[in-house]
Formats: sequence, structure tokens, C-alpha cells
Amino acid sequence: MTQTLTLRRPDDWHLHLRDGDMLRAVLPHTAAHFARAIIMPNLVPPVVTGADARAYRDRIMAALPKGADFTPLMTLYLTENTDPADVAAAHAEGVIHAVKLYPAGATTNSASGVSNFDKVAPVLEKMAEIGLPLCTHGEVTDAAVDIFDREAVFIDRVLDPIRRAHPKLKVIMEHITTSDAADYVRSADKNLAATITTHHLVINRNHILAGGIKPHYYCLPVAKREVHRLALRTAATSGDARFFLGTDSAPHTDANKLLPCGCAGCFTAPNTLSILAEVFEQEGALDRLEAFTSLNGPAFYGLPVNHTTVTLIRKTPDYPDHIDTPDGPVTVFDPAMPLHWTP
Ligand code: NCD
Ligand code: ZN
Repeated sequence: MTQTLTLRRPDDWHLHLRDGDMLRAVLPHTAAHFARAIIMPNLVPPVVTGADARAYRDRIMAALPKGADFTPLMTLYLTENTDPADVAAAHAEGVIHAVKLYPAGATTNSASGVSNFDKVAPVLEKMAEIGLPLCTHGEVTDAAVDIFDREAVFIDRVLDPIRRAHPKLKVIMEHITTSDAADYVRSADKNLAATITTHHLVINRNHILAGGIKPHYYCLPVAKREVHRLALRTAATSGDARFFLGTDSAPHTDANKLLPCGCAGCFTAPNTLSILAEVFEQEGALDRLEAFTSLNGPAFYGLPVNHTTVTLIRKTPDYPDHIDTPDGPVTVFDPAMPLHWTP
């Protein structure tokens, strides 16, 4: 039986680091294992200009533990007022690596997102021209659409029209949760990819709702039926270069999760690599873990792969069930299965 597993150092292509005390509390957990991460811009207020992204990047660098080897890859939050020239300048300077589309109201801090997609066409055209990827939160917000169908409907109503209007635009469907999304990504031979989270490879909607409501398993997009979880496992472990890791590790304090209207998000930064190794071993695909965590993402973003490595050993990992922050405890995602790999 394999006892060690050496991978090129992984990258996280979708991460929430927050700001201030929470940033300082959660960042070490990502920096311990990952070389780079695409940093989500849904702060309050959001990161909307090149200047905002530069300032946020500086705060992240200042919060890094001494000696850490970690590079934040910044993103801008797309609004109906985003200036194509500002986006192009921030990209040319190397400050930003993607722009994030949130349909207005789709998730945590997305009130400034897009309602009228025609208004952002000039930005998307500029991004296509300069090769800057668009990250999408793929859910419609139409109250008439069932929450379990919002991703599939987003593909038809929003994503496919955007891709037809801007065929040269590189698009990443983030944190996909359905077989519909995996199939849609496979239907395109270029300029389309998807990130898959750690937790969506582990939980289905029963984990959230059966035997009592489990707020710590509630995230957006919400976990779907088992058949979809299995489709995500197939996609992630296939080696197909269009699928790569974006943990969507999204810390909220327990006080904000355990409410009559609790926040969406799973905090997976501390145990993501142990969980992924377990999932890939269960699928007989340990040899394809590196493609998912370390090779496919840089290839799509047009960045070099990392040259350093991380070695996992076959040993029960030791990680806390929560971390303490000045804002209160944040619960670490419970994979509800024994883990056997320690990074
Ligand atoms: C994210 C957050 O908390 O910022 N929550 C989540 O459930 N994933 C927002 C997001 O990516 O949707
Ligand atoms: Zn997210």
C-alpha cells in the first residue's frame, strides 16, 4: 500500500479569506498547504477596482505568517459600473487574475452583483481581448426557480448566452454542484472550465437536512442529490484538464452560522488536502490527485505550475474541530468519515 504521496504544491482556485482579524486567523491554514489562491472579492464593501485589489493584496501579504510561501491571486467583483479600462490596467500590472461575476443577491455579500447582463458586455469584451478569465457564481436568483435547480437554469439563461456573445472569453464555472454543469463543461473544447470544492465531493443534501438541520453543511450553491455528488467525483478524479480544485473555503463564525437565518459557507482550509486524498483513494485515482490540485488550474489560467512539492503520509490527520478567532470560533468542515492522509 502506498505510504507517501508527493504532489506539486497545490493551488486553490477559489478561496474566501475575509479581512482583518478573520483574515489573520484563517490565512495560515491555507498558506500551510497551498502556493497560490484565487481570492474572492466579496468583502463588505466589495473589491471593485484595481486600487481596491492592490490594497487587499497588501493586507493579505501583511497577514501572512513569517516565512510562508504563498501568493494571493486577486480578483475584481464585477458590477454594472465596472470600468473596462481599470480592469485592463489592473491586469496589465499583474494585480488581478480574474473577474468575478455574482448574479445580484446570489450569495454572501453579493448585493452589488449584476442584474442586467447587457451592462457588463463591454467589460466582458475587454476581458476576452486581453485573456482575463471570468469566474462565475453559477446560480440564478429568480425566486420562482427552485434552489436545487438554480445552477442548471443559470447555464441556459445566463452562461450560455454570455459564452455565445463572447466566444473568446475564458470562463470558469465555479463550485459546480450538478451533473448538468459537469456535462456542460465537457461540451466545450476550449475557454471553459470548472472548479469543484472539497465539500461537494463529500456531502449531498441529506447531510444538510436528514436527521436534523446541519448549518455547518449549508453552503452555496447548496449540495444536491447523491447522483450529482457522484458526477462531481467522476469529473474531479477523471484527470480531465477542465476540472480543478477551488475549495470555496468560506469561514463564518459559529454565531453567524447557527442562526434562524444562518450564513452559507463551509470552512475546509485546515483539512482539505486530507479529505481530497481520501476521496481520490476511494475512487482509485490517487495518481490523478495532482492534476486536480496542482496542474489543471495553472494550465487554464496560463500560469506556470509550482516547483515545490508537498508530501502526504499515510497517517490519521490531526486538525482541530474549530479554530478560535477574535470574532469567535469557526467550525472546521467535518467530512464525517475517517481520514488517513496527513500533509
Ligand atoms: C461564500 C461566502 O461565504 O462568502 N459562501 C458559500 O456558501 N460558498 C460565498 C460563495 O462563494 O457563494
Ligand atoms: Zn465562494
